[in-house]
Amino acid sequence: MRVDIVTLFPGMVEPALADSIVGRARERGLVDLRVHNLRDWAAGKHRVTDDTPFGGGGGMIMKPEPLAACIEALRGPESRVVLLDPAGRRFTQEVAREYASRPHLVLLCGRYEGVDERVREHLVDEELSIGDYVLSGGEAAALVVAEAVTRLQPGALGDAGAPTRDSFSRGLLEHPHYTRPEVFQGWGVPDVLRSGDHALIERWKRLMAVWRTWQRRRELLETADLSPEEQKWVDGFRQGRTPDDYLAQGRATHE
Ligand code: ADE
Repeated sequence: MRVDIVTLFPGMVEPALADSIVGRARERGLVDLRVHNLRDWAAGKHRVTDDTPFGGGGGMIMKPEPLAACIEALRGPESRVVLLDPAGRRFTQEVAREYASRPHLVLLCGRYEGVDERVREHLVDEELSIGDYVLSGGEAAALVVAEAVTRLQPGALGDAGAPTRDSFSRGLLEHPHYTRPEVFQGWGVPDVLRSGDHALIERWKRLMAVWRTWQRRRELLETADLSPEEQKWVDGFRQGRTPDDYLAQGRATHE
């Protein structure tokens, strides 16, 4: 997969793509991630990319010509051209999966008060927001999208885990994780995780994922991909039950 990121501040973007999972995926050729300076497509000696708004008001607006030239240069028959903007469609794991299955993504980082409306209307395929807050530009948002999409490329996570086990992969939050020591400042690790009983441990992980989602992001359960047993747990939580009720039951039926 190829991802082009277009920005007025390549220095904000490039270093963040050099390390960890994304850096390794790039080195191994799993994703062809390129960072471009929009100024390279701006005309004239001063390569101006912004101008004052028609109708007055404060701030500067990104001019359409450099963006149009850049999109024309980068767009291919299978490209998705995305403008990062707080007014766009909300980015979710589902959108990440959709993008990850595409051969080519162009991520345009907006700056200043925004981009000329004609670019939005006629030249980009979609506008995307990473959340309901306003950043100074789309760079951090483009990095979020690039990382979420890269880690979904086959092989990108190596032995670290399959993306199917991640939070949100089934529409659920993740279960809690523990590592050594067994007791830390008097706080222990749940007995079940040290039981060596793999079926029981897997069941505990699913139960805790459903419980955590119930407690923190209840609305996700409306669209989550639940097994009949998981659905039964949700129905129980609705009636005031807690994981302890089901853990005791699991052990009883298991032993
Ligand atoms: N640019 C500024 N704020 C943004 C946001 N929340 N999402 C995407 N791009 C942005």
